[in-house]
Amino acid sequence: MRIFESLESQVRGYIRSFPTVFATSKGAILTDENGREYIDFFAGAGTLNYGHNNERITKAMIAYLEGNGVLHGLDMATTAKRNFLEKFSSTILEPRNMDYKIQFTGPTGTNAVESALKLARTIKGRSNVVAFTNGYHGLTMGALAVTGNTFYRDEAHISRSNVSFMPFENYFGDNVDSLACLRKMIEDTSSGLDLPAAVIVETIQAEGGINVASAEWLKGLSDLCREFDILLIIDDIQVGNGRTGSFFSFEFADIKPDIITLSKAIGGGLPMALVLMRPDLDQWKPGEHTGTFRGNNLAFVACTEALSYWDNPALSEAVQYKGARMYEALDAIRNTHPELEANIRGRGMIWGLELPERNLARTVVETCFEKGLVIELAGAEKQVIKLLPPLVIEEDLLKQGLAIIAESIKEVLKKREIL
Ligand SMILES: Cc1ncc(COP(=O)(O)O)c(C=O)c1O
Repeated sequence: MRIFESLESQVRGYIRSFPTVFATSKGAILTDENGREYIDFFAGAGTLNYGHNNERITKAMIAYLEGNGVLHGLDMATTAKRNFLEKFSSTILEPRNMDYKIQFTGPTGTNAVESALKLARTIKGRSNVVAFTNGYHGLTMGALAVTGNTFYRDEAHISRSNVSFMPFENYFGDNVDSLACLRKMIEDTSSGLDLPAAVIVETIQAEGGINVASAEWLKGLSDLCREFDILLIIDDIQVGNGRTGSFFSFEFADIKPDIITLSKAIGGGLPMALVLMRPDLDQWKPGEHTGTFRGNNLAFVACTEALSYWDNPALSEAVQYKGARMYEALDAIRNTHPELEANIRGRGMIWGLELPERNLARTVVETCFEKGLVIELAGAEKQVIKLLPPLVIEEDLLKQGLAIIAESIKEVLKKREIL
C-alpha cells in the first residue's frame, strides 16, 4: 500500500474504506493480490449492475478491439455508436413509448448533470433551479450547486448559486407535505423563490441515505412542474439502469420527465454518460456543448451488449426476487435487534439499513470488510449501510453477503458488551 500513501493525493477515499490492493474481479467477487475474495455489495457505486468483467460484455469488447474498431472518435459517426443508438432505441425507448433525443456528454455523471442544467436554463431563460435536501448530483460546479451535503459544499469552492433547496419527501417526517410547501413557495410572489427553469431530483436519493420517493410524490412533482412551466430533470445516474427492477427508476410513477440523466451502469462498466431530452427541448446549437471524451466507443460496445439483458423480463424479475430477499434479511436484523431502532429503506436492489446511533454503521461496515464484504455508507452522517450488489449476483453469494452483515452487527454489539 506504500506507493498509494506516498504518491496518491489525500483526496483518495474508498481505498481508506477498503484497505487492500484488488487484483482481479468477476461477477460479484473482488479478489485482492493475496488471493482473498470479497463479495461486492458496492458495485462501483452502481456502475457494475451487470457484474465485474461480465462475460458477454468482455467478449464483445475483445472482438471490437481485435477488429481495430474506432476507440476514440469525438462525436463522429462510428458503427459502435450506431449500433448503440439502434439498440437503445429498440430495446429501451420504443417499448416504453418514450420519444427522446440523446446527447452524449463527457463520460461521467456530473458531466451529464452539467449539460442538463445548462440546457434547461438556456431553454427557459431562467437561472434558478430547484434541488432537494440530501440530493447528490456530482461535484463539478453546476452539479455541486444542486448537491446538498455540506461536506462537499465548501465556501472556497465559490459559486454554488442559482439554486433553491426544497424539502424532499418525508424530510420533515410524514406529517409535512413537502410538495405543498414547494407549491406555496412557487405561487407566493413574495416567497423569495425565483421561478426555476427546472427541478432536479433523484427518485431514490442514494448518496443521501437511500431516501425513497413514492410514486404519488413523483407524480405530484411532475404535475406541479407542468402547471408552472418548469422542466423536470430526473437524475437516474445511480438508480436507473435496472437498479429498481425497471430500466428507469421512475417508470413505476408513470411520469414522463422532460430531461433524464444516465451514467454509471449505462456503460456496462466503462465510462459513459447520456442526457435524454424531449425532442422539442433539443435546442443545442451544433457543438455548443462539447467534450473530448464524448462518445466512448468501447463503452458503446459494452453498453450495446449489456442492453441485451433488457430483451426479455428475466433481469427485471430477478431484481424483484433478489430485492425481496435483501429486504427480508434486513427485516430479520431489525427484529433481532429492536434496541438499534434501525430503519430500512429501498426498492429493487438498492437498500439502506439506517442505524441512528452515531458511528455504529461505520463500525459495522468495517467489520463487514474484515469478514470479506465490500459495502459502503450513505447519508449525511454516514448512518446508513448501503446495499448495492450487482444485479446479476448469484443468489447464494447474495445470501452470504447478507449473512455477513447480520454477523457483523452481532459481533460489534457483543464486543461493546464486553467493553
Ligand atoms: C444521482 C447521481 N448523480 C450524479 C452523480 C455523479 O456521477 P459521477 O461521480 O460519475 O460524476 C452521482 C454519483 O454518485 C449520482 O449518484
